[in-house]
Amino acid sequence: MTTPKAHDGAPRRNSYGRRHGKTLRKSQVVHMQTTLKEISPKNVTYEDNPNRDPIAVTDLFGDDRPVWLEIGFGGGEHLLHMAQTYPEVGIIGCEPYVNGVAMLVPRIAETGVTNVRVHMGDARDLLDVLPEASLDKAFLLYPDPWPKSRHRQRRFIEPENIDQLARALKPGAEFRVATDIEDYARQTQQHMLGRDDFDVLTTTDDALKKPWADWHRTRYEAKAIRENRTPNYMTFRRR
Ligand SMILES: C[S@@+](CC[C@H](N)C(=O)[O-])C[C@H]1O[C@@H](n2cnc3c(N)ncnc32)[C@H](O)[C@@H]1O
Repeated sequence: MTTPKAHDGAPRRNSYGRRHGKTLRKSQVVHMQTTLKEISPKNVTYEDNPNRDPIAVTDLFGDDRPVWLEIGFGGGEHLLHMAQTYPEVGIIGCEPYVNGVAMLVPRIAETGVTNVRVHMGDARDLLDVLPEASLDKAFLLYPDPWPKSRHRQRRFIEPENIDQLARALKPGAEFRVATDIEDYARQTQQHMLGRDDFDVLTTTDDALKKPWADWHRTRYEAKAIRENRTPNYMTFRRR
């Protein structure tokens, strides 16, 4: 099924949650106008790239280093931790929530990390223009749960999005998903088990409850634990 097109040529995609929260501090506004501009990949939006021409991933970091993607990084704690732990990797984060981006961007400037790029918007817009087999790893950490049954189709784990992600991942690339919503974990496992382009590496309860060795707790995970929900850590490998 093809996605219906909006007037400007962009597909009419499900909306995500909030785009804005409280007013940004002056220093955050400055970083959004300076640091963010410097680290935003070009030609990702429909406005800038209506033909959806693939972007050159080597131009993003200036070399052919491994490239990872974090979808919906929230406040960016995990992304920054990974960038500092793996300086030889380039990490692209996508997040439409302005206040989340405004939390991460000053931290990038303060810490001086140079291996992060940020697309302030929908990850699906970036996936559209990433060349085939260009990503070495991807993270989807605590995706919006959309608990109401009439909103289930908004969840990120659905065939069209995972097809797009599969296209962008290299063979052997890892896809990590964390969620505290049992029903979302079940849906994810079921969806991924039914695909012939991924192996499911976390098949036992023990494996699902064990964080990755280089895991860094995110805000949403901290909240889930405070509220007595248990994290699930799922790992898939692109065939
Ligand atoms: C529940 S929050 C989790 C944030 C963060 N990963 C964490 O664990 O703290 C989900 C995030 O995904 C973002 N999001 C939702 N749909 C998205 C999409 N299509 N592309 C990129 N980010 C998205 C939301 O804006 C939100 O910040």
